Amino acid sequence: MLSVKMQGALNAQVNAELYSAYFYLSMSSYCESVSLAGCAGWMRAQAQEELYHGMKMYDYINERGGRVIMAAIDQPPSDWDSVQNVFDDVLAHEQKVTGLINNLMNLAQDERDHATSSFLRWFIDEQVEEEASVGAVVDKLRMIGKDGNGLFVLDRELGQRVFTPPVKE
Ligand code: FEO
Repeated sequence: MLSVKMQGALNAQVNAELYSAYFYLSMSSYCESVSLAGCAGWMRAQAQEELYHGMKMYDYINERGGRVIMAAIDQPPSDWDSVQNVFDDVLAHEQKVTGLINNLMNLAQDERDHATSSFLRWFIDEQVEEEASVGAVVDKLRMIGKDGNGLFVLDRELGQRVFTPPVKE
């Protein structure tokens, strides 16, 4: 059984993951508006991944006999100056999410909740991957700068991304 505190913290994370999906959908629409269909597709796949994260946590709370409370989701920003600016925000957001996951792990360990610690390990690893993949895009965008051809090629590359839910959890 989850403690009241742990259940509340996991519920807050469900909300944070769903907010992330909302945030990336907003970015996807911005990318569409500036004719970067590949970046828009990448953001859409990212949003699907966030929904998966949220549902994974939702299922875990229920599995442990807890209760999921669907709180209101904040409105994300809807405008950016450039696609560089968009990906800078993605990286900053993922770094913030890493902090949230680390805080959850700290709480699980403080409470000697071994099942939750074990469950959160997947998220810890996932954040390493997320920050690395977004960081690589940020670096490429810096290299490209104002080179339209470079951006065209990167947009096409990012458009290849497809979200596939992990088979084994
Ligand atoms: Fe759910 Fe991008 O972390």
